[in-house]
Amino acid sequence: MDDIGLDAVQSKPHDDYMEIPVKKLFADSYYMAVVGKLVATDAPKMFDILFQLPWYKQLHEDWLSELFSGYKNARVLEVGCGPGQLMRSASSWGHTVVGLDRSEKMLKKARKNLANCSNTELVLASADDIPYTPNTFDFAVAASLINVVDDPLPILKEMARTVKSTGVVSFLVPSEKMSARSAAAHIRENRLEGMSSGALRMWATLAKKMSADHCEQIALAAGLVDVVVTPSFDGMVHTTMGRKP
Ligand SMILES: C[S@@+](CC[C@H](N)C(=O)[O-])C[C@H]1O[C@@H](n2cnc3c(N)ncnc32)[C@H](O)[C@@H]1O
Repeated sequence: MDDIGLDAVQSKPHDDYMEIPVKKLFADSYYMAVVGKLVATDAPKMFDILFQLPWYKQLHEDWLSELFSGYKNARVLEVGCGPGQLMRSASSWGHTVVGLDRSEKMLKKARKNLANCSNTELVLASADDIPYTPNTFDFAVAASLINVVDDPLPILKEMARTVKSTGVVSFLVPSEKMSARSAAAHIRENRLEGMSSGALRMWATLAKKMSADHCEQIALAAGLVDVVVTPSFDGMVHTTMGRKP
């Protein structure tokens, strides 16, 4: 086993699942502890690992794939891009992607991850002061950022300012339906194990959640129109989309 147990990242069905509940219980606690420690000591590594988990990657790629449907060669801004894994997905659809983060440590990881992606660019800046002129991007997106900051409205206003007229602003956040119980149900139904299971349990425990009403209100307050909040991932996540008028 490697130092963080990544060799156990898997989500394939386990035939003797029911015969090892105690072993599984210990494994879950172990991986939750691994995730908890990484969140506290090496967040860039943790968010990098998360994107290697099939459920996490799929959930984010489904969101972007719906958002980008029908668009070619778009210019995309991701705020709070972390280690840049979502940017890599977005660029693989042929879009030009700018990733912005205020953490140099995150950007260092992102630079490594994006070394082979020519249509990406990284910027060290704060999301409430985006160093781009108005009407620059077709899309401005944020994953697990709007729920973690103290005041998301200035960030959403900046995202709205920097997209073109009729451009799209979208953000993904855990919903108030994400809980230890709903995560456990998802883990059972999808037979997640190891890091996959531990990371989802930990996300459900640690994440700040937002209601659909709150998502809609702040999108409207940022000046967006045609705002739609869509549940995904068994209702445990909200994706909010709005247009600049
Ligand atoms: C919870 S992580 C999410 C990372 C990635 N988007 C994901 O979903 O895996 C939040 C990221 O936003 C960045 N961040 C937090 N507040 C920010 C701000 N005000 N401006 C820019 N980046 C910010 C953090 O450095 C971190 O990389």
